[in-house]
Parts: sequence; structure tokens; C-alpha cells
Amino acid sequence: MFITLEGGDSVGKTTQAALLEDWLMGEGREVVRTREPGGTPLGVEVRRILLHGGDEIGAVDPRAEALLYAADRAQHIAQVVRPALARGAVVVQDRYIDSSLAYQGAGRVLDVDEVRRISEWAAQGLWPDVTVLFDLAPEVAATRRASREDDRLEAEQQEFHEAVRSAYRDLAAASPGRFLIVDASGTPEEIHAIVRARVAERIAAG
Ligand code: TYD
Repeated sequence: MFITLEGGDSVGKTTQAALLEDWLMGEGREVVRTREPGGTPLGVEVRRILLHGGDEIGAVDPRAEALLYAADRAQHIAQVVRPALARGAVVVQDRYIDSSLAYQGAGRVLDVDEVRRISEWAAQGLWPDVTVLFDLAPEVAATRRASREDDRLEAEQQEFHEAVRSAYRDLAAASPGRFLIVDASGTPEEIHAIVRARVAERIAAG
């Protein structure tokens, strides 16, 4: 089973990934917890360029940026995710194709269908079984990250974060069978209970 966690910056995905991993392991499952960008050695390099590139790189062209995320994804799916799924592990992954659609699409420069095509090509058409969208107002998320304004995207305007949130909601509405939308303003335990119920249901369904 392939589970992805999505949402704006600082909505609590990492905390939820850890809680989900602990619960699944307690159920006796092998869990591979991973993330994009940066889930492979190549991806770590790509992540560094994308999020902490530095002045010598300058402004990254939107197409170049989309291709870097796609390159990270291709390597990650081939090297980590497919082998894990093939041996029956549950993959719990922080961000995937929906991040590219929401973030690169929200930049309003690239056509979302084009971003989808390069992402699908990179991932060899692999889509998650369950995608949890942690939905939270950007101004609330901002209070959670007040002390870690350390990467390029997190420094972007409020408007961009609003566009990302609304893009995610549209994606979820378009694929209701795959998405679980969770109000991320609750406590970590409340949110985890909702996520766990959905995943348990999916496991029971086979
Ligand atoms: P992440 O490490 O998950 O940071 P956060 O804790 O803020 O969620 O993600 C890094 C950034 O990369 C995040 O701002 C979203 C962005 N991103 C894209 O723009 N496109 C993508 O395809 C992916 C996977 C991430």
C-alpha cells in the first residue's frame, strides 16, 4: 500500500507520518517512511539545489524547477518506492505528484496538465492508494513555522500559499476516492485518529 501525505508547508505532515508509521509497525507491517524531494542520495543533492540553492544558482526557471522535482521523483520511485511495494511494505511518503501539481501549478506559469504529464512519466504512472490532504489556513501554518523561515518556498508570499491550498482542495475534489481531507487545525492525536481510521479501512478492503 502506497500512502502519501500532502498539504501546505508546516501543516504537520511530518508529525503525522511518524504517528502513522508507529501505528502500522505496531500492526506488524513493514513500513518505509520516505519523502520527496530527498528520498534518495541523488534526491538529497536535488533537494539541496531546490531549497537551499544559494546565490550562484540565481532564479530557477519554472520548467527547470519542475524537471528537478521530476528527476528526484523518478529516482525515488525506481530506487525506493517500487522495491518497497514489491516486497509488500507499506510506503508512507511525505509529498508526491500532488505537490508538483499544487506548487508548480500555483506558480501560474506552468500548465498543470503539463506538470502532471512529466510527473507521471517520471513516476512511470504510479499513483498512491491513499492520499491524505492536511488542510490548514496558511496564516495558521505560518504561526507554526515562525522560527524556521529557512527555505526559499517558505519565504514566498501569503498569496502563493493560498493558491497552493486551493489547488490541493481542487485536486482532492477531483479524486475523492483517493483523497482523505483532514482539518489540520486539530491536535496531533485527533488528526492521527482520523488518518488511522481511513488507512485501517483501506487495509481491510485489501
Ligand atoms: P518539505 O520538505 O515537505 O517541507 P515542508 O515541511 O515545508 O512541507 O517540502 C519542501 C518544499 O518543496 C515544499 O515547500 C514544497 C516543495 N515541493 C514542490 O514545490 N514540488 C514538489 O513536487 C515537491 C515534492 C515539493
